Amino acid sequence: MFDYTSLYQSLQKQGLGDFADSIKEKVDDYFAHLKHGDVPKWQAAFSALPSVQASTYNLQSEAVSAGSATDINDADTQQLVESLKAIMPWRKGPFNVLGVQVDSEWQCQLKWQRLAEHIDLQDKRVLDVGCGNGYYMYRMLGAGAKQVVGVDPMLRFVFQFEAIKKYLLPFVTAESANILPLTMQDLPNAASKIRIDFDTVFSMGVLYHRRDPVEHLQHLHYCLADKGELLLETLVIDAGSEWGELLEPAKDISRNKRYAMMGNVWNVPTVALLEQWVKQAGFSQIKVCDISTTNFEEQRGTEWMVFHSLQEFLNPDNPQETVEGYPAPKRVILRCQ
Ligand SMILES: C[S@@+](CC[C@H](N)C(=O)[O-])C[C@H]1O[C@@H](n2cnc3c(N)ncnc32)[C@H](O)[C@@H]1O
Repeated sequence: MFDYTSLYQSLQKQGLGDFADSIKEKVDDYFAHLKHGDVPKWQAAFSALPSVQASTYNLQSEAVSAGSATDINDADTQQLVESLKAIMPWRKGPFNVLGVQVDSEWQCQLKWQRLAEHIDLQDKRVLDVGCGNGYYMYRMLGAGAKQVVGVDPMLRFVFQFEAIKKYLLPFVTAESANILPLTMQDLPNAASKIRIDFDTVFSMGVLYHRRDPVEHLQHLHYCLADKGELLLETLVIDAGSEWGELLEPAKDISRNKRYAMMGNVWNVPTVALLEQWVKQAGFSQIKVCDISTTNFEEQRGTEWMVFHSLQEFLNPDNPQETVEGYPAPKRVILRCQ
């Protein structure tokens, strides 16, 4: 369905052949067992994307952009919009494709602005765990990364990423950015003894979905080269609140096991507890880069994401609380070495 040959070859050349073989086996297995569902629809939409050469690109602007409206005629623009809308919802972005503004639910440039000053990605090999549709991966390339590998099990997001990449390919190379339709757990771990050696690993918006947060952090640690660094972003609660050190919404039957209408939110710690977990997993030199409460500028419904969004996740009478009565979403960014 998607061609990862140039990624595998590039890993081989970098002396990471065992890693290439291991992910190839998992990716082949994923596609061999793919249940159809919406996939034929996404595939048809992807194949119908007009073949237009973008004249320019920008991976450093707020909207990741490929080409402009002058590169494409009206009929092709209409087809482009139709194809991109067939792979909705667009949760992460924004993107500007040949003049079409994809106004995503999340204004991801805001998080990028909060973390960009804390990282140096020049010539780095980067892993982005739970990368969504790869908006941040493009920003990482724009910040000088030489190769970015994303993993995310949601194939819809891989289609979104590949749709954007189709128009960026003259400017970014095929091996420089790829999303594998896998989970973190599919990547080699310490028991496998297969070296992966990324310079920088991102895990943003994933930790709270993991039942065993320290295991996730240990696995992230394993993916790093010596002196590599982790950028971790996750939900936190304030210290000294009625909730103590740790919220465990997925265990609370009285609140339907939901947090801001999300299932599978297993842990929302205080920053102090999170730092303990990170140290336990083997990291040192931990820096709190940012703590921000999510607002309606950053997360909202749009014509490209028509389902419930932050507005509906919060208590209408008290936006400091989720509809379940928990503290409203607040996120920390940690840099860990
Ligand atoms: C809240 S989104 C965050 C997306 C992006 N990293 C960001 O910060 O905006 C979480 C993403 O992690 C993916 N995900 C969930 N569990 C995962 C796992 N075990 N391994 C890899 N990705 C996972 C989901 O499919 C989803 O796209």
